[in-house]
Amino acid sequence: MDTGVKMRTVSAGDIEDLLSFWRTIEGVGLGKGDDRESLERFIDRNPTACFLLTEEEKIVGSVLGGFDGRRGYIYHLAVSPEMRRQGWGRMLMDAVCGELEKLGAHKIHLFVLNDNHDAVEFYRHLGWELRTDIKVMSK
Ligand SMILES: CC(C)(COP(=O)(O)OP(=O)(O)OC[C@H]1O[C@@H](n2cnc3c(N)ncnc32)[C@H](O)[C@@H]1OP(=O)(O)O)[C@@H](O)C(=O)NCCC(=O)NCCS
Repeated sequence: MDTGVKMRTVSAGDIEDLLSFWRTIEGVGLGKGDDRESLERFIDRNPTACFLLTEEEKIVGSVLGGFDGRRGYIYHLAVSPEMRRQGWGRMLMDAVCGELEKLGAHKIHLFVLNDNHDAVEFYRHLGWELRTDIKVMSK
């Protein structure tokens, strides 16, 4: 079925639209690293692992994958509220995980805000394990 929704990799020209999209999505935590320059660097380093969905040129989904040579990391998975529960989130996760594995990531991590129970249930449903044996420390 042709839904009109297309998936493609992210390029630097998408950054402003992505930032506007993420600002509308509850559950996507924007912080340091979400300025234009940092995002451009991230996309430049991971050109094949950052994806977006568009519908009539408008961004309706996103995910950023990063490979550091050892682990893969996933950031900013989001699907427009009106398009949820139709398989788009799973499609983005399949794309990013497939690419990170292809690049050589033996393990992939992602971060979920403590109060984002829906995202945890989504990831569990896709077979992800909620880790209770590690704490995240940041600087
Ligand atoms: C998380 C998110 C990307 C899921 O996108 P989605 O397009 O609705 O997900 P899908 O439709 O592909 O769902 C895939 C499967 O997970 C299930 N699922 C989706 N959301 C779920 C939830 N909240 N709880 C339990 N299962 C869920 C679906 O039923 C589907 O199951 P199936 O394939 O067996 O039929 C979307 O809810 C979102 O953008 N949330 C806000 C942003 C966010 O929190 N991102 C995560 C940041 S860490």
